[in-house]
Amino acid sequence: MSQINFYPTESSQLNEVDFNNIPFGKVFSDHMFSAVYEDGEWKDFQICPFKELTMHPSMMALHYGQSIFEGMKATVAPDGTPLLFRPEKHIERLNKSAERMCMPVFPEEVFHQAVHKLVGIDRNWIPSREGSALYLRPFMYATDKYIGVTASSTYRFLIITLPVGPYYSKPVNLKVERKYVRAVKGGVGEAKTSGNYAASLLPAKLAKAEGYDQVMWMDAHEFKYIQEVGTMNLFFVFKDKIVTPATEGAILKGITRLSIIELLKSEGHKVEERPLAIDEVKEAYKQGELVEAFGSGTAAVVANISQIKDVDIDMKFNESNWKLSSRIKSFINGVRIRKEKDRFGWIVPVKEQVSH
Ligand SMILES: Cc1ncc(COP(=O)(O)O)c(C=O)c1O
Repeated sequence: MSQINFYPTESSQLNEVDFNNIPFGKVFSDHMFSAVYEDGEWKDFQICPFKELTMHPSMMALHYGQSIFEGMKATVAPDGTPLLFRPEKHIERLNKSAERMCMPVFPEEVFHQAVHKLVGIDRNWIPSREGSALYLRPFMYATDKYIGVTASSTYRFLIITLPVGPYYSKPVNLKVERKYVRAVKGGVGEAKTSGNYAASLLPAKLAKAEGYDQVMWMDAHEFKYIQEVGTMNLFFVFKDKIVTPATEGAILKGITRLSIIELLKSEGHKVEERPLAIDEVKEAYKQGELVEAFGSGTAAVVANISQIKDVDIDMKFNESNWKLSSRIKSFINGVRIRKEKDRFGWIVPVKEQVSH
């Protein structure tokens, strides 16, 4: 067991928060986990009061983009036990992102210890309303003070946490992106790295100006195959099957996506992970074979899609057909608060209940 030092806050902000009305992404809990990579090893593990960071103007992450992150959730059982959703998958993906971005992997055992301890300490920050959660943001960035394109030799790893209410409660309408691309096979699309999100901002802004919530990314070679949207993977429910684009190097391997595939297969649905051409979706829509479409991701869990607009078609999806997606959403949200049985072993109860 690695030593994680704990420095409690002297002024908790908990009483300042209105848990019935939490703005997403703006409210931070009392503590954060911090670690430093130096001389080839991770050290200085600590949980300390949430605070601002100082940085050198040449800090490499700012210039050359070695910066990766994760997004995961902690919820609370009726008996008050904090619950984590598939934390082992998140550290696995973080370390895959690290490898791709030429960054050091973070020790899994320390990650789990840190998450349990941090969530245990700030357990009163976990909102209890169904669909709400404590959002955990682990992230790592390069800290060498150096101007020059090379991999940094020092890094910082932090976990900050934020109470969040239900996200994307509204259905989303999508525009098929025909000019810009998000990711190309062989690139960094499968890594959860900051630049991927920066690259998405201009197309998203242009789509918003036209009245769309998000763009639907297409493959970068032919603009033929569907990839994903913003921070979600995609599922298309046909009358006889459910299809989700195969990740194949350019799409983020979503953990919600993985969980939904497991759930659907266990229920006997025919689930296909394969390249999905937009033309196939259009044809099925015209034939009345396409029932619903939805996005999946940690933040939203499931977001219904009300419309997909392409140059030659405007596909509208009727709310009365959003049956499968609603059931999946309520199952995953239910598992997260022990309202549903955790049939797949997704939930990890927090072991450490630190009082301070
Ligand atoms: C680009 C992208 N795709 C898909 C997802 C969904 O992944 P997950 O279900 O692990 O949250 C996310 C969110 O992490 C994302 O940022």
